[in-house]
Amino acid sequence: MRVDFQSWISAHQVRFEDALSGLLPRAEVVPQRLHEAMRYAVLDGGKRVRPLLAFATGELAGADEARVDVAAAAVELIHAYSLVHDDMPCMDDDVLRRGKPTCHVQYDEATALLVGDSLQALAFQLLAEHRLCEDAVRQLEMIKLLAVASGSRGMAGGQAIDLASVGKALTLPELEFMHIHKTGALIRAAILLGAHCGSRLGSVQMEKLDHFGKLIGLAFQVVDDVLDCEADTATLGKTAGKDADNDKPTYVSLLGIQGAREMAHRLHREAQVALTEFGDEAQRLRELANFIVLRKF
Ligand code: IPE
Ligand code: IPE
Ligand code: MG
Ligand code: MG
Ligand code: MG
Repeated sequence: MRVDFQSWISAHQVRFEDALSGLLPRAEVVPQRLHEAMRYAVLDGGKRVRPLLAFATGELAGADEARVDVAAAAVELIHAYSLVHDDMPCMDDDVLRRGKPTCHVQYDEATALLVGDSLQALAFQLLAEHRLCEDAVRQLEMIKLLAVASGSRGMAGGQAIDLASVGKALTLPELEFMHIHKTGALIRAAILLGAHCGSRLGSVQMEKLDHFGKLIGLAFQVVDDVLDCEADTATLGKTAGKDADNDKPTYVSLLGIQGAREMAHRLHREAQVALTEFGDEAQRLRELANFIVLRKF
Protein backbone atom coordinates (compact mmCIF):
# COMPACT_ATOMS: atom_id res chain seq x y z
CA MET A 1 0.00 0.00 0.00
CA ARG A 2 1.20 3.51 -0.82
CA VAL A 3 1.65 5.66 2.29
CA ASP A 4 0.96 9.39 2.14
CA PHE A 5 3.87 11.74 1.57
CA GLN A 6 4.19 13.01 5.15
CA SER A 7 4.25 9.46 6.55
CA TRP A 8 6.78 8.44 3.90
CA ILE A 9 9.04 11.37 4.85
CA SER A 10 8.73 10.72 8.59
CA ALA A 11 9.44 6.99 8.29
CA HIS A 12 12.55 7.62 6.18
CA GLN A 13 13.78 10.45 8.41
CA VAL A 14 13.54 8.32 11.54
CA ARG A 15 15.22 5.29 9.98
CA PHE A 16 17.90 7.44 8.33
CA GLU A 17 18.74 9.25 11.57
CA ASP A 18 19.56 5.87 13.11
CA ALA A 19 21.57 4.84 10.07
CA LEU A 20 23.57 8.09 10.15
CA SER A 21 24.19 7.79 13.87
CA GLY A 22 25.54 4.27 13.39
CA LEU A 23 27.81 5.30 10.53
CA LEU A 24 29.38 8.23 12.42
CA PRO A 25 32.19 7.57 14.91
CA ARG A 26 30.92 7.35 18.49
CA ALA A 27 31.55 10.42 20.65
CA GLU A 28 33.47 8.31 23.21
CA VAL A 29 36.12 7.34 20.66
CA VAL A 30 39.38 9.31 20.60
CA PRO A 31 39.61 12.16 19.59
CA GLN A 32 36.34 12.66 21.48
CA ARG A 33 35.93 16.38 20.90
CA LEU A 34 36.22 16.04 17.13
CA HIS A 35 33.83 13.09 17.04
CA GLU A 36 31.37 14.89 19.26
CA ALA A 37 31.52 17.94 16.97
CA MET A 38 31.01 15.77 13.86
CA ARG A 39 27.89 14.27 15.42
CA TYR A 40 26.74 17.75 16.47
CA ALA A 41 27.01 19.01 12.88
CA VAL A 42 25.24 16.04 11.28
CA LEU A 43 22.64 14.65 13.68
CA ASP A 44 19.39 16.04 15.01
CA GLY A 45 18.58 18.66 12.42
CA GLY A 46 18.11 19.46 8.79
CA LYS A 47 15.36 18.58 6.37
CA ARG A 48 17.34 15.69 4.84
CA VAL A 49 16.18 16.71 1.37
CA ARG A 50 19.14 15.11 -0.41
CA PRO A 51 18.69 11.72 1.30
CA LEU A 52 14.94 11.84 0.61
CA LEU A 53 15.65 12.41 -3.07
CA ALA A 54 18.00 9.42 -3.04
CA PHE A 55 15.34 7.27 -1.35
CA ALA A 56 12.80 8.28 -4.01
CA THR A 57 15.11 7.45 -6.93
CA GLY A 58 16.27 4.31 -5.13
CA GLU A 59 12.65 3.13 -4.96
CA LEU A 60 12.21 4.00 -8.63
CA ALA A 61 15.25 1.88 -9.49
CA GLY A 62 14.25 -1.07 -7.27
CA ALA A 63 17.24 -0.58 -4.96
CA ASP A 64 17.87 -2.23 -1.63
CA GLU A 65 17.04 0.35 1.07
CA ALA A 66 20.13 -0.40 3.20
CA ARG A 67 22.35 0.35 0.21
CA VAL A 68 20.57 3.64 -0.47
CA ASP A 69 21.04 4.57 3.20
CA VAL A 70 24.81 4.45 2.71
CA ALA A 71 24.76 6.46 -0.52
CA ALA A 72 22.36 8.99 1.04
CA ALA A 73 24.55 9.22 4.15
CA ALA A 74 27.60 9.98 2.01
CA VAL A 75 25.81 12.89 0.32
CA GLU A 76 24.39 14.18 3.61
CA LEU A 77 27.87 14.10 5.22
CA ILE A 78 29.27 16.19 2.37
CA HIS A 79 26.30 18.55 2.68
CA ALA A 80 26.77 18.87 6.46
CA TYR A 81 30.49 19.57 5.96
CA SER A 82 29.63 22.25 3.38
CA LEU A 83 27.33 23.93 5.92
CA VAL A 84 29.96 23.85 8.68
CA HIS A 85 32.48 25.55 6.40
CA ASP A 86 29.87 27.88 4.83
CA ASP A 87 29.10 29.27 8.30
CA MET A 88 32.70 29.98 9.28
CA PRO A 89 33.88 33.59 9.70
CA CYS A 90 36.00 33.36 6.53
CA MET A 91 32.86 32.48 4.53
CA ASP A 92 29.32 33.62 5.49
CA ASP A 93 30.11 34.19 9.17
CA ASP A 94 26.91 32.75 10.64
CA VAL A 95 26.18 31.92 14.27
CA LEU A 96 22.99 29.84 13.87
CA ARG A 97 22.41 26.64 11.89
CA ARG A 98 19.55 24.15 12.14
CA GLY A 99 18.31 26.06 15.19
CA LYS A 100 21.59 25.58 17.09
CA PRO A 101 24.85 27.56 17.41
CA THR A 102 27.04 26.91 14.36
CA CYS A 103 29.83 24.39 14.76
CA HIS A 104 32.64 26.94 15.13
CA VAL A 105 30.60 28.83 17.75
CA GLN A 106 29.74 25.71 19.74
CA TYR A 107 33.30 24.35 19.47
CA ASP A 108 35.97 26.51 17.81
CA GLU A 109 37.17 27.38 14.32
CA ALA A 110 39.92 24.79 14.13
CA THR A 111 37.50 22.07 15.20
CA ALA A 112 34.93 23.24 12.60
CA LEU A 113 37.61 23.04 9.92
CA LEU A 114 38.52 19.52 10.98
CA VAL A 115 34.86 18.49 11.22
CA GLY A 116 34.47 19.42 7.56
CA ASP A 117 37.65 17.57 6.59
CA SER A 118 36.61 14.48 8.53
CA LEU A 119 33.02 14.39 7.27
CA GLN A 120 34.24 14.60 3.71
CA ALA A 121 36.71 11.78 4.22
CA LEU A 122 34.07 9.66 5.98
CA ALA A 123 31.66 10.11 3.06
CA PHE A 124 34.13 8.53 0.66
CA GLN A 125 35.16 5.87 3.16
CA LEU A 126 31.51 4.76 3.35
CA LEU A 127 31.13 4.61 -0.43
CA ALA A 128 34.29 2.54 -0.68
CA GLU A 129 33.66 0.08 2.17
CA HIS A 130 29.96 -0.80 1.66
CA ARG A 131 28.52 -2.63 -1.31
CA LEU A 132 26.23 -0.20 -3.11
CA CYS A 133 25.37 -2.14 -6.26
CA GLU A 134 26.17 -5.45 -7.95
CA ASP A 135 28.66 -4.02 -10.43
CA ALA A 136 32.04 -2.97 -8.98
CA VAL A 137 32.80 -0.70 -11.95
CA ARG A 138 29.50 1.10 -11.45
CA GLN A 139 30.34 1.52 -7.77
CA LEU A 140 33.63 3.21 -8.72
CA GLU A 141 31.67 5.53 -11.02
CA MET A 142 29.38 6.37 -8.10
CA ILE A 143 32.38 7.34 -5.98
CA LYS A 144 33.70 9.52 -8.79
CA LEU A 145 30.27 11.09 -9.26
CA LEU A 146 30.18 12.30 -5.65
CA ALA A 147 33.82 13.44 -5.83
CA VAL A 148 33.15 15.61 -8.88
CA ALA A 149 29.94 16.98 -7.36
CA SER A 150 31.79 17.93 -4.16
CA GLY A 151 34.99 19.42 -5.51
CA SER A 152 36.14 22.43 -7.51
CA ARG A 153 33.90 21.49 -10.45
CA GLY A 154 30.95 21.10 -8.10
CA MET A 155 29.95 22.40 -4.66
CA ALA A 156 33.36 23.78 -3.58
CA GLY A 157 33.77 25.51 -6.94
CA GLY A 158 30.33 27.08 -6.58
CA GLN A 159 31.26 28.28 -3.11
CA ALA A 160 34.45 29.84 -4.50
CA ILE A 161 32.39 31.75 -7.07
CA ASP A 162 29.94 32.79 -4.33
CA LEU A 163 32.76 34.30 -2.28
CA ALA A 164 34.37 35.97 -5.29
CA SER A 165 31.00 37.52 -6.20
CA VAL A 166 30.40 39.47 -3.00
CA GLY A 167 29.46 43.05 -3.86
CA LYS A 168 29.16 42.27 -7.57
CA ALA A 169 26.09 42.29 -9.79
CA LEU A 170 26.20 38.97 -11.64
CA THR A 171 24.35 38.36 -14.87
CA LEU A 172 21.60 35.76 -14.88
CA PRO A 173 23.79 33.10 -16.56
CA GLU A 174 26.60 33.77 -14.05
CA LEU A 175 24.21 33.45 -11.12
CA GLU A 176 22.75 30.26 -12.57
CA PHE A 177 26.24 28.81 -12.97
CA MET A 178 27.08 29.61 -9.34
CA HIS A 179 23.85 28.12 -7.96
CA ILE A 180 24.00 25.00 -10.13
CA HIS A 181 27.42 24.33 -8.65
CA LYS A 182 27.23 25.39 -5.02
CA THR A 183 23.87 23.71 -4.38
CA GLY A 184 22.67 21.93 -7.50
CA ALA A 185 25.64 19.59 -7.79
CA LEU A 186 25.00 17.71 -4.53
CA ILE A 187 21.26 17.50 -5.14
CA ARG A 188 21.90 16.08 -8.57
CA ALA A 189 24.41 13.63 -7.13
CA ALA A 190 21.88 12.46 -4.50
CA ILE A 191 19.30 11.76 -7.21
CA LEU A 192 21.75 9.80 -9.35
CA LEU A 193 23.37 7.88 -6.50
CA GLY A 194 20.00 6.64 -5.23
CA ALA A 195 19.13 5.45 -8.73
CA HIS A 196 22.53 3.80 -9.24
CA CYS A 197 21.92 1.62 -6.16
CA GLY A 198 19.20 -0.18 -8.15
CA SER A 199 19.32 -1.79 -11.55
CA ARG A 200 15.92 -1.05 -13.03
CA LEU A 201 16.73 2.14 -14.96
CA GLY A 202 18.40 2.46 -18.35
CA SER A 203 20.68 5.25 -19.56
CA VAL A 204 17.86 7.32 -21.10
CA GLN A 205 15.95 7.25 -17.81
CA MET A 206 19.11 8.17 -15.90
CA GLU A 207 19.52 11.17 -18.20
CA LYS A 208 15.95 12.25 -17.48
CA LEU A 209 16.61 12.00 -13.75
CA ASP A 210 19.81 13.99 -14.17
CA HIS A 211 17.92 16.69 -16.02
CA PHE A 212 15.26 16.72 -13.29
CA GLY A 213 18.08 17.03 -10.71
CA LYS A 214 19.67 19.95 -12.50
CA LEU A 215 16.38 21.87 -12.57
CA ILE A 216 15.22 21.07 -9.06
CA GLY A 217 18.71 21.65 -7.62
CA LEU A 218 18.73 25.15 -9.09
CA ALA A 219 15.16 25.73 -7.90
CA PHE A 220 16.26 24.69 -4.39
CA GLN A 221 18.80 27.52 -4.19
CA VAL A 222 16.44 30.06 -5.78
CA VAL A 223 13.95 29.25 -3.00
CA ASP A 224 16.77 29.46 -0.41
CA ASP A 225 17.48 32.99 -1.70
CA VAL A 226 13.79 33.91 -1.41
CA LEU A 227 13.48 32.48 2.10
CA ASP A 228 16.62 34.30 3.25
CA CYS A 229 14.73 37.48 2.43
CA GLU A 230 11.19 36.56 3.42
CA ALA A 231 11.25 34.09 6.30
CA ASP A 232 12.26 34.74 9.88
CA THR A 233 15.25 33.38 11.77
CA ALA A 234 13.18 31.17 14.10
CA THR A 235 11.44 29.44 11.18
CA LEU A 236 14.62 29.01 9.15
CA GLY A 237 16.81 27.90 12.06
CA LYS A 238 19.51 30.11 10.51
CA THR A 239 19.97 33.88 10.42
CA ALA A 240 17.52 35.50 8.01
CA GLY A 241 18.61 38.43 5.86
CA LYS A 242 22.20 37.21 5.65
CA ASP A 243 22.54 37.53 1.88
CA ALA A 244 21.70 41.24 1.85
CA ASP A 245 23.92 41.80 4.93
CA ASN A 246 26.82 40.07 3.20
CA ASP A 247 26.11 41.82 -0.12
CA LYS A 248 25.67 38.52 -2.00
CA PRO A 249 24.27 38.43 -5.49
CA THR A 250 21.14 36.23 -5.38
CA TYR A 251 18.06 35.63 -7.50
CA VAL A 252 16.27 38.10 -5.24
CA SER A 253 18.89 40.83 -5.69
CA LEU A 254 18.80 40.30 -9.46
CA LEU A 255 15.11 39.67 -10.16
CA GLY A 256 13.32 40.87 -7.02
CA ILE A 257 11.23 38.61 -4.78
CA GLN A 258 8.43 38.17 -7.30
CA GLY A 259 10.82 37.49 -10.17
CA ALA A 260 12.74 34.94 -8.09
CA ARG A 261 9.51 33.18 -7.09
CA GLU A 262 8.42 33.02 -10.72
CA MET A 263 11.81 31.62 -11.66
CA ALA A 264 11.41 28.85 -9.04
CA HIS A 265 7.96 27.99 -10.38
CA ARG A 266 9.21 27.91 -13.97
CA LEU A 267 12.05 25.54 -12.98
CA HIS A 268 9.52 23.44 -11.05
CA ARG A 269 7.29 23.08 -14.13
CA GLU A 270 10.28 22.10 -16.29
CA ALA A 271 11.38 19.58 -13.66
CA GLN A 272 7.92 18.00 -13.70
CA VAL A 273 8.16 17.65 -17.48
CA ALA A 274 11.45 15.78 -17.11
CA LEU A 275 9.57 13.12 -15.09
CA THR A 276 6.74 12.62 -17.60
CA GLU A 277 7.81 9.25 -18.94
CA PHE A 278 8.06 7.70 -15.46
CA GLY A 279 4.30 8.04 -14.95
CA ASP A 280 2.96 7.22 -11.47
CA GLU A 281 6.25 5.60 -10.48
CA ALA A 282 7.81 9.04 -10.03
CA GLN A 283 5.11 10.28 -7.65
CA ARG A 284 7.50 10.58 -4.70
CA LEU A 285 9.91 12.65 -6.77
CA ARG A 286 7.05 14.92 -7.81
CA GLU A 287 6.01 15.32 -4.19
CA LEU A 288 9.60 16.14 -3.22
CA ALA A 289 9.83 18.70 -6.03
CA ASN A 290 6.64 20.31 -4.71
CA PHE A 291 8.11 20.35 -1.22
CA ILE A 292 11.37 21.94 -2.45
CA VAL A 293 9.58 24.76 -4.22
CA LEU A 294 6.72 25.37 -1.75
CA ARG A 295 8.65 24.93 1.52
CA LYS A 296 8.61 27.64 4.17
CA PHE A 297 12.02 26.78 5.75
C1 IPE B 1 21.00 24.81 3.05
O1 IPE B 1 20.57 23.55 2.65
C2 IPE B 1 22.16 25.22 2.23
C3 IPE B 1 21.91 25.22 0.80
C4 IPE B 1 22.57 24.48 0.00
C5 IPE B 1 20.90 26.11 0.25
P1 IPE B 1 19.28 22.89 3.32
O2 IPE B 1 18.14 23.89 3.26
O3 IPE B 1 19.04 21.58 2.69
O4 IPE B 1 19.73 22.72 4.82
P2 IPE B 1 19.32 21.62 5.89
O5 IPE B 1 20.10 20.38 5.56
O6 IPE B 1 17.83 21.39 5.77
O7 IPE B 1 19.71 22.21 7.20
C1 IPE C 1 25.06 27.42 0.73
O1 IPE C 1 24.52 28.56 0.22
C2 IPE C 1 25.66 26.51 -0.24
C3 IPE C 1 26.47 25.51 0.45
C4 IPE C 1 26.54 25.37 1.75
C5 IPE C 1 27.25 24.66 -0.37
P1 IPE C 1 24.04 29.57 1.34
O2 IPE C 1 25.19 30.26 1.97
O3 IPE C 1 22.97 30.41 0.76
O4 IPE C 1 23.38 28.56 2.41
P2 IPE C 1 22.72 29.03 3.77
O5 IPE C 1 21.65 30.02 3.40
O6 IPE C 1 23.80 29.61 4.61
O7 IPE C 1 22.12 27.76 4.31
MG1 MG D 1 27.12 30.67 1.47
MG1 MG E 1 25.44 30.65 4.10
MG1 MG F 1 21.17 30.95 1.71
